[in-house]
Amino acid sequence: MKRIAVLTTGGDAPGMNPAIRSVVRYGIAKGLKVTGIMRGWWGLVNEELRDLDHRSVSGIISQGGTILKTGRCPGFSTKEYQDRAFNTIKKHAIEGLVVIGGNGSFTAAHHFGASYGIPCVGIPASIDNDINGIDYTIGSDTAINTALAAIDNIRDTATSMERIFVIEVMGRDCGFIALSVALAGGCEDVIIPELKPDFERMCHDIVEGNIHGKVSWIIVVAEGAGSAVDIADKITEMTSLETRAVVLGHIQRGGRPTAFSRDLALRLGDAAVDALLLGRRDLAVGLCCGRINEVKFEDAIKKKELKAEYWYNLIKTLT
Ligand code: F6P
Repeated sequence: MKRIAVLTTGGDAPGMNPAIRSVVRYGIAKGLKVTGIMRGWWGLVNEELRDLDHRSVSGIISQGGTILKTGRCPGFSTKEYQDRAFNTIKKHAIEGLVVIGGNGSFTAAHHFGASYGIPCVGIPASIDNDINGIDYTIGSDTAINTALAAIDNIRDTATSMERIFVIEVMGRDCGFIALSVALAGGCEDVIIPELKPDFERMCHDIVEGNIHGKVSWIIVVAEGAGSAVDIADKITEMTSLETRAVVLGHIQRGGRPTAFSRDLALRLGDAAVDALLLGRRDLAVGLCCGRINEVKFEDAIKKKELKAEYWYNLIKTLT
């Protein structure tokens, strides 16, 4: 193998840049040429590439986002786009692809790699932490810390003004961010897609708490389980208590990657290059039960199982 290429696709995640740095510098150390593909799959379809040398990844280790840009490319499932991508790969003598992204990216890599015989290895990077079989995706720790800092701030005003807040966090259809910040933030309740909410019980607890002097509440809602605005309205209606809604939104995707997100990214970049050099393909490298390991794409893209009830019960027990 002489040349590999690296791309970032799907939603950006803090730590993608350190992952690129690791793929480039480790690849070069192993005697490979490394090409960067711009804007995810779009770069392969539109032949938008750039050669990456040691210096081209200087100074990016602490930066959020991705120097290669990223995006969603729904058309990539079509034969027309995949043929164009394959032509780019052949024309530039690319022998292996490192795909840095989430489950949509791995689904695309799984089908494209199998159909055209391209060795693809994934590096899980998504704030959602929704890759099956993988403990933590790159960026999830940073996003959780960003959301937690915001929740801590809201706690100050919630306590001072004796209010109820519903805070919406990202995560698509996965409740990981919500559970994690609700536990770490000492929040009173959490609503996630994996568990059916019990609004009657929640509102009963709020009213009872209010009678006994507990007048501020923070309820975290995962975006896949509903909207903070709708839930706040519902709580106001059911309890007659003023309830405010906050949507944290894309702030969770940006910022300097934490040490954990960076270390993970740097370790996985090297693991991905090694996997390609060993002739491995159609899989992601990732932290599995605390160790760097491989997970086949077909398993990685299945619905991730969270121990949702365990987390939920702990959050409720500790409030
Ligand atoms: O997958 C990462 C993520 O931030 C999800 O949590 C969220 O649902 C989605 O991307 C938002 O995507 P976009 O920025 O394209 O609206």
